[in-house]
Amino acid sequence: MRGAKDFLRILLRLTILATLLLYACSDNQADYPQRQMPETFKKNPAAVSAGHELFRDKCASCHGKPSEGRFERAEFFNPPAPDFTDARYREADPAYLYWRIETGKTVEPYRSQGSVMPAWGAHLSEEQVWQIVAYLQARAH
Ligand code: HEC
Repeated sequence: MRGAKDFLRILLRLTILATLLLYACSDNQADYPQRQMPETFKKNPAAVSAGHELFRDKCASCHGKPSEGRFERAEFFNPPAPDFTDARYREADPAYLYWRIETGKTVEPYRSQGSVMPAWGAHLSEEQVWQIVAYLQARAH
């Protein structure tokens, strides 16, 4: 009897371990809603320049370069705020960028990571968010 109980206990532990492992190894890129960037914003110089202005005003304190007014305390953010000059932002899914701007640190996994990224959904119009996305893609090089 005792052997069977031990066996079950071990089986249970193995199952838990396997589940945890699967969870840890699964792609932890969060799910975000699919959206199409309206054609009118893509590579549109007027949209990019409106996005640039919004970026300077609302984002550069954390995401800008020092010459763009990046706060000194931004150096200590963990996770750090990217300055969006990395080429991968040109290829980034616009729906992902939109969602990150909209929800910021309020969603997982960013909340648990201790992100300080504000959620802009209530402060920017849909048009403004797309303008910023157009700018971020143009900013990457
Ligand atoms: C108070 C500082 C702060 C401000 C202001 C801020 N952000 Fe962030 N942002 C962060 C930090 C820190 C991260 C990295 C952690 C994370 O992904 O949540 C981040 C992440 C992001 C990401 C995801 C980057 C990636 O590689 O996945 C996007 C997109 C973004 N911010 C856009 C913006 C935009 C656009 C604005 C202005 C409208 C803005 N942020 C304003 C701090 C800030």
